[in-house]
Amino acid sequence: MRRVDFRSKRVLDIGTWDGLWSFEAERLGASSVLATDINTQRLFPDQGPATFEFAKRIRGSKVEYKEVSIYDLDSLEQQFDVVVFFGVLYHLRYPQLGLARIRNVLKDGGLLLMETAILLDTEDTIIQTDHQKIYPNDVSTWNAFSGPALVSLLKESYFEVERFEVIVRQNRGPKIGRGFALARATSGVNLHHYFPDLYLHRFFEPYGAASEEAGKTDR
Ligand SMILES: C[S@@+](CC[C@H](N)C(=O)[O-])C[C@H]1O[C@@H](n2cnc3c(N)ncnc32)[C@H](O)[C@@H]1O
Repeated sequence: MRRVDFRSKRVLDIGTWDGLWSFEAERLGASSVLATDINTQRLFPDQGPATFEFAKRIRGSKVEYKEVSIYDLDSLEQQFDVVVFFGVLYHLRYPQLGLARIRNVLKDGGLLLMETAILLDTEDTIIQTDHQKIYPNDVSTWNAFSGPALVSLLKESYFEVERFEVIVRQNRGPKIGRGFALARATSGVNLHHYFPDLYLHRFFEPYGAASEEAGKTDR
């Protein structure tokens, strides 16, 4: 977090839980922070965002909380300078769609900070989908990307990856660790796929204004 200049930035935190990283973004100078999560995906849904509200109160924080899934971010009708996306990708049934939703609410040139479960020690662009082979005790796990697969996913979602690093290695069990990526929102010709992602038409320049219109209806 300290590598990024949060001053005067509009920040979106996805899957905030108790708001830890939202409060940190605020402390680092963000002009506004919107913390989001969905109760159904939390470990103790009956608590609602109560722990977030408690932390907000005792900190005297101005961070706002909104109940919205990553898949519905377009409904915010807002654009952000920075998106914080820690510990959520591996909980997503549709990770590619999640990344598309993020790109849609990030300004061109905006920054994505993300952290997720990573398959270690492979150069292959592969995704593990069986939670038994990732976190056997965590049934809310849907995927672990290899580092190269995560970088590829980001590029295909109109991001330029400025940094990717493995930050945690698990000592026992499957070769799973945690990876951190810092990526900048881009647009233009995606050399990976000539045919643009249906959800990201508007970032694909050859289609111009028509793709902008198509992008609207897709959403
Ligand atoms: C492992 S916690 C990460 C919490 C926090 N970001 C952190 O790094 O400490 C995963 C969070 O993602 C949220 N989550 C899962 N699926 C989601 C979705 N579709 N949209 C938004 N949040 C989601 C969960 O409710 C949970 O709060």
